[in-house]
Amino acid sequence: MATVHKVMFEPVGIEMEVEEGEIVLDAAFRQGIAVPHGCKEGQCSACKCKLIEGDVDLLKYSTFALPEHERDDNHILLCRTHAFSDLTVELLNFDEEALSRSIAVKDFRGKVVSVKSLTHDIRLLEIELDQPLKFWAGQYVDITIPSMGVTRSYSMANPPSEERRLQFIIKKYPDGAFSALLDDGLQPGTAITAKGPYGGCFRREGRAGPMVLVGGGSGMSPLWSILHDQIQSGEQRPIRFFYGARSDQDLFYLDEFASIACKLTDFEFIPALSQQNGSPWSGETGFVHDVVQRRLRAEGLSGEIDAYSCGPPPMIDAVMPVLFGIGVEPSRFYYDKFTQPAKSN
Ligand SMILES: Cc1cc2nc3c(=O)[nH]c(=O)nc-3n(C[C@H](O)[C@H](O)[C@H](O)COP(=O)(O)OP(=O)(O)OC[C@H]3O[C@@H](n4cnc5c(N)ncnc54)[C@H](O)[C@@H]3O)c2cc1C
Ligand code: FES
Repeated sequence: MATVHKVMFEPVGIEMEVEEGEIVLDAAFRQGIAVPHGCKEGQCSACKCKLIEGDVDLLKYSTFALPEHERDDNHILLCRTHAFSDLTVELLNFDEEALSRSIAVKDFRGKVVSVKSLTHDIRLLEIELDQPLKFWAGQYVDITIPSMGVTRSYSMANPPSEERRLQFIIKKYPDGAFSALLDDGLQPGTAITAKGPYGGCFRREGRAGPMVLVGGGSGMSPLWSILHDQIQSGEQRPIRFFYGARSDQDLFYLDEFASIACKLTDFEFIPALSQQNGSPWSGETGFVHDVVQRRLRAEGLSGEIDAYSCGPPPMIDAVMPVLFGIGVEPSRFYYDKFTQPAKSN
């Protein structure tokens, strides 16, 4: 039998067990404890904690996620940590609400229903699971195509009211082990497995202040889920949805956004194009974080803002200080960086 150690999370006072050879973050998922996390691969730093007591070993990680001086100061990445004794770990930036809304991670079987084109390089993948998956709007699952031996993380685009038919907005990379299969390889009926739900960038309910959504590329996926969950909840609040793209060829769901704007009392969709050359465009141009800065400063939204951002890591790194600069509390900024896998597998 595997040796089992105890892990005490402070300052929340939550205790759990971890088997020797098991990653501490996986043990938390297994026991339904949603400690902060993102990529689960040592790339994003969302799971960074401070080790107060105990012996650990860390698997390979990116020094962007955990620089050497922080490792020297006993910081660890839970997604890379093996325990060799009982541990006491101080959670940094933990979120009481995320912990209280933990959903235990489970394995699901399913099949591909369809793949549709949204733009030249964005696809909508629909799958059907053999049993319902409970999740919060904004969360993601790891999808495996067993016949191809490839697993990647994708965020649900549909709201949680639909628990078996899940949709994912996915950007296609020409050499992508997973995404290239969207146009060539994934047929209706192809068997998949899914594991989840994961992620702390999910919609916080019952908040009255403005909601700011900032996405780029396939970062639309979780934000689309959050937006529709918000609409279904019937809760009223000002919503500003910023979306960064290169050109108007990269925009999609424009009719859907127009119809949402007619239904909601205080909603605006603000696409920002960074490389719109030639064809006419009367909307915002430039990088999306600059547009967020310009527009939100000019508008001066009142009330405590909840901000959600998903997509390429550089976009999130750029928008974060902008949001803090206009008064968003760090504890009310929720994000998922769509990092690349540590190694293609
Ligand atoms: C928490 C989380 C949620 C995610 N949600 C989504 C989602 O909803 N939709 C979505 O499309 N993706 C999402 N991703 C990214 C996704 O998991 C894959 O990394 C992505 O689809 C690329 O996988 P691939 O197998 O197609 O490419 P790989 O085989 O892994 O990469 C092949 C090549 O493609 C290029 N490439 C791959 N990824 C990137 C990138 N991010 N930036 C630039 N070039 C790249 C590179 O040239 C790379 O060498 C998410 C990632 C995380 C961590
Ligand atoms: S570095 Fe651990 S979850 Fe991303």
